[in-house]
Amino acid sequence: MDLQILPIDHPKPRISDENNLVFGKQFTDRMFVMEYDSGKGWHSARIQPYAPFVLDPAAMVFHYAQEIFEGLKAFRRADGTIALFRPADNFARFNRSARRMCMPEVDERFVLDALLELIRLEADWVPHNQGTSLYIRPTMIATEPMLGVRPSNKYLCYIILSPVGAYYKGGVAPVKIWISDFYVRATEGGTGEAKTGGNYAASLYAAKQAAEDGYDQVLWLDAKEKRFVEEVGSMNMLFLYDGKIVTSPLRGTVLDGITRRSALTLLGDMGYQIEERALTVDEVMEGATNGRLTEAFGTGTAVVISPVGSFCYKDSCVRLGDGQPGKLTMELYHKLTAIQYGKEADSHNWVTLL
Ligand code: COI
Repeated sequence: MDLQILPIDHPKPRISDENNLVFGKQFTDRMFVMEYDSGKGWHSARIQPYAPFVLDPAAMVFHYAQEIFEGLKAFRRADGTIALFRPADNFARFNRSARRMCMPEVDERFVLDALLELIRLEADWVPHNQGTSLYIRPTMIATEPMLGVRPSNKYLCYIILSPVGAYYKGGVAPVKIWISDFYVRATEGGTGEAKTGGNYAASLYAAKQAAEDGYDQVLWLDAKEKRFVEEVGSMNMLFLYDGKIVTSPLRGTVLDGITRRSALTLLGDMGYQIEERALTVDEVMEGATNGRLTEAFGTGTAVVISPVGSFCYKDSCVRLGDGQPGKLTMELYHKLTAIQYGKEADSHNWVTLL
């Protein structure tokens, strides 16, 4: 398939203040788009001006939520070059999500090459300040106008770009987490592992209540027994428990996070023993009190490494540490970002340079 490059007429004003970038609010001048029709396959791949789509009100994505997305980042390095972090892993996961949601797979190499071309054209939009990056959002939506419940015969796949700063307003500051004992995010056999909008829509109600009560995020328990901690939705959770790294196993209910994988590899390199086992909510709450749980942090493309300051469950709250991010949490944050920004050697071959 050819990639057509269309001109842009009205470039937007460039970023005026890199210190105050709000996550996911501003978008660049161009986007990648391709279309799918069953029988014809993917076609009409192009880089075009960023613009709204015209979609039929009956488009299946609006009714039955057949959609998937990805999140990855491009980083500006001190020498001005631009680096993408593990982009091939994101497109592999995009296709795994596509299979789970009965959507057509994409040619991973073609889409990655198209993304590299898009970023070359939008290079001015990659911010320079420490902690900033260009957030990349590949998306696929079902566009066939049809109210019968079945997989769509038409799709749009597109990639938009957003210059971003820290995901949380407070930057790398400890977050306050509410562990929900009632609402659940994913069940075994469900879609929890797929990066699909419905998982996020399902999390909003509890997240809204949590925000009203002053929490930053909701930590989900397993749906069956409501005993085991799983993930936060915008991030996987890792715990420093008895001096080992413990994180929920991938059983189909937890997202196979690329930052999670990278963190586990780096922590293994640092000599930590990794246990992919389900930690119970009691181990978290008691562990924070009796000293067995010394640090906890979230991992995700958007949040990077996010330290947890406290957990609240039912009527009790426990604090971790002294209100400052944990030592290991920050060591890992610096190690990972040093690789992303080119300050440390990329010994695992995670980086794709433009
Ligand atoms: C990411 O970390 O890229 C995500 O997709 C999480 C998101 C919902 C902000």
